[in-house]
Amino acid sequence: MISCDLQLLIGIVLYVVGGWVSEWSHMSQAMENASIRFFTVEHEVMMLIAWALVHIGWSRVKKATENHQKLSRSVIFFGIALLLILLAVPWPFREIARPWLRT
Ligand code: HEM
Repeated sequence: MISCDLQLLIGIVLYVVGGWVSEWSHMSQAMENASIRFFTVEHEVMMLIAWALVHIGWSRVKKATENHQKLSRSVIFFGIALLLILLAVPWPFREIARPWLRT
């Protein structure tokens, strides 16, 4: 959960510093370009949903009284969050990609 919070903070900084906020002033044009659309909207929406699922999941797991309940809630909330994160990462082998390492 802490790593998710840290990633959210880094993401917000990157969003502001990287100039993605300025894309909002011409949103319809931004939506036409797959790469700009991905980093202006898609990446953020999916990651924010994943972040929320991790937080909601954590509180639901803490409230669970039975072990099987803890396990099933963990699998559902953290599983969906992980899936969303994996889908929203700009992997180097994707069309909208970022390299493994910045050298
Ligand atoms: C679990 C959450 C997240 C993960 C795993 C993640 C992962 C990544 C990765 C791997 C990159 C590419 C880094 C690179 O340029 O080499 C990236 C870029 C970026 N992310 Fe995220 N991110 C997350 C959440 C967020 C959130 C919540 C935001 C915004 C609110 C965000 C905004 C950005 C921006 C603006 C970029 C830079 C795009 C660019 O200018 O190249 N990310 N993210």
